[in-house]
Amino acid sequence: MVEIKEGTTLGKLSLTYRVLFTGFLLVIGTGLMMAGAQIMLTHGMADGKAGLSMNDIVYSYYGNRTGSKLESALTGKMKSKAPEDVNFTLIQWVRDDAPMEQWNKIGPLLEKYCASCHNAESGLPEVTKQEVAKSLAEIDHGASISTLTRVSHIHLFGIGFIFLFVGWIFGMAEFDQFWKLILISTPFAFLVLDIASWWLTKFWPIWAWFTMIGGFGYSLASTIMIGTCLAQMWLPRWTQKY
Ligand code: HEC
Repeated sequence: MVEIKEGTTLGKLSLTYRVLFTGFLLVIGTGLMMAGAQIMLTHGMADGKAGLSMNDIVYSYYGNRTGSKLESALTGKMKSKAPEDVNFTLIQWVRDDAPMEQWNKIGPLLEKYCASCHNAESGLPEVTKQEVAKSLAEIDHGASISTLTRVSHIHLFGIGFIFLFVGWIFGMAEFDQFWKLILISTPFAFLVLDIASWWLTKFWPIWAWFTMIGGFGYSLASTIMIGTCLAQMWLPRWTQKY
């Protein structure tokens, strides 16, 4: 990258590097905001309500293990669709891990009480089909190990590079040395905390707190760094000092 001479500050950089760094920081800043918006739209809606909450993170990584979609439908919104003893039979079947040997008993019940709405035309899940019923009967275990592995390494590599360059540029800012070191190092620490907490949340939902803290921590640190860099590259207070 640039040869950083002793004592080079952002305000003293040539126009070339200021334009280059500004372009980079603006793109990264926008990217971080998009990432935040995306988290709100995907994980944020996991519990069915807008906004990011602990439950969203728990549902995304740990899953909703209180039961399957089919069971929660049969005890909730769909409760009134079939007589009580039919609901009971269906719930028993779900709790027995939806054995297909019993399909000749279960299939006709679903056909009789559910097919009027749950059919190909309505767009609702076709619960009368074996594979649909089976998958709705599965307990939701959250993110799989393979998904977590994939997302973890993409995040570590990708975000690691972002923080390297943001920190590199910020290293040339005029800033209290102690706080400079804190700001440059915390995003890396929080990134590791964040990703470790996904894995821990998969097994123990209480760790969802650390996902929140981690994400908040590195967003805050990078916002301060990006803001400081942009200000010191362009505001006369820093550029006209020399
Ligand atoms: C009168 C029409 C009607 C009948 C009969 C009906 N459903 Fe539904 N069902 C719906 C509608 C509409 C929704 C989606 C609405 C919602 O989620 O608020 C739904 C949603 C569901 C869902 C949630 C799907 C998902 O992906 O989350 C399940 C599971 C379900 N129904 C199962 C059943 C079963 C089992 C029966 C039969 C015992 C049944 N339904 C009978 C109208 C019906």
